[in-house]
Amino acid sequence: MLNGNKMLFSGMQATGTLTLGNYLGALNNWVTLSDEYTCLYCVVDEHSITVRQDPAELRKRARNLLTLYIAAGLDPEKNIIYYQSHVPAHAELAWILNCFTYMGELQRMTQFKDKAAKHADNINAGLFTYPVLMAADILLYQSDVVPVGQDQMQHLEITRDIALRFNNLYGDVFTIPEAYIGKVGAKIQSLQDPSKKMSKSDENANASIYLTDDRDTIIRKFKRAVTDLEACVRYSDDQPGIKNLITIYSAVTGKAPADVEAEFEGRGYGDFKLAVGEVVADRLQPIQEKQAALLADKAYVDGIIKTNAERAEYLALKTLRKVQKKIGFPERIR
Ligand code: TRP
Repeated sequence: MLNGNKMLFSGMQATGTLTLGNYLGALNNWVTLSDEYTCLYCVVDEHSITVRQDPAELRKRARNLLTLYIAAGLDPEKNIIYYQSHVPAHAELAWILNCFTYMGELQRMTQFKDKAAKHADNINAGLFTYPVLMAADILLYQSDVVPVGQDQMQHLEITRDIALRFNNLYGDVFTIPEAYIGKVGAKIQSLQDPSKKMSKSDENANASIYLTDDRDTIIRKFKRAVTDLEACVRYSDDQPGIKNLITIYSAVTGKAPADVEAEFEGRGYGDFKLAVGEVVADRLQPIQEKQAALLADKAYVDGIIKTNAERAEYLALKTLRKVQKKIGFPERIR
């Protein structure tokens, strides 16, 4: 059922609509990694409530994200695909690890500082201890590798620090996880301002391709993408707009940037933008169709949700019980 012995954990929040950047930078690589590792891909709904959410919307988005994982090619029998909130061990271990994490460490987290500034009316304790819950996610499964973006590196560092601190006190309880920095985990920039990352929270809808966009929208957004002055398809830092489009085209087709340049030699931006729009639409369409089919098949998806939560819980409890014993909680009477 599970392949390989090395464990991999990653998760995404079900807030906002995922973009092509999330797909090419993360999800698409997860599919590749699932051949190499035993993978847990979690929908981290407990992290999401650190900022206010509409309950119905959160529930809907969580299901959309879980089905998207599968639609994007993650096999729910080979990988463990589940909701964080369905495995109580995450919250239990997070509580314990809170007692092994210092206020000063958490105060240094840049994401906390950013989010506290953005949500000044709701700087709750959960937002502060967010990295501890993330540490619990990772450490519960004795994860060896964690594919994360640059913005999460600091959280991975604190996870390692907490794990080392705990191991120093109680022996080798936790595997110390490493960040998995992908080979090409393509970094996709905004279509309207190539100096910024493509983001699901960009106010300008033309800046991002959403994974829910239909073909016409995708092609229109690429046509409007900001390009440069040279009017030739060349991969270079002085043409950041075109460079970004080449990165996208390369990531989707698997062709090297130099081959893309050769393919579009002597052709203008217009042709190239249309070609990028088409390959992206061709890639996303079957994913969207598969996701729609999954969302329509309630019984099948519910079955996956149930079995995968059980598989995750089985692994999580092994670690949690060991931790509880080490720190001196009374033994359970069976
Ligand atoms: N904090 C991560 C993010 O916002 C999501 C996340 C939660 C995560 N738990 C994790 C990522 C564990 C990797 C491993 O992107």
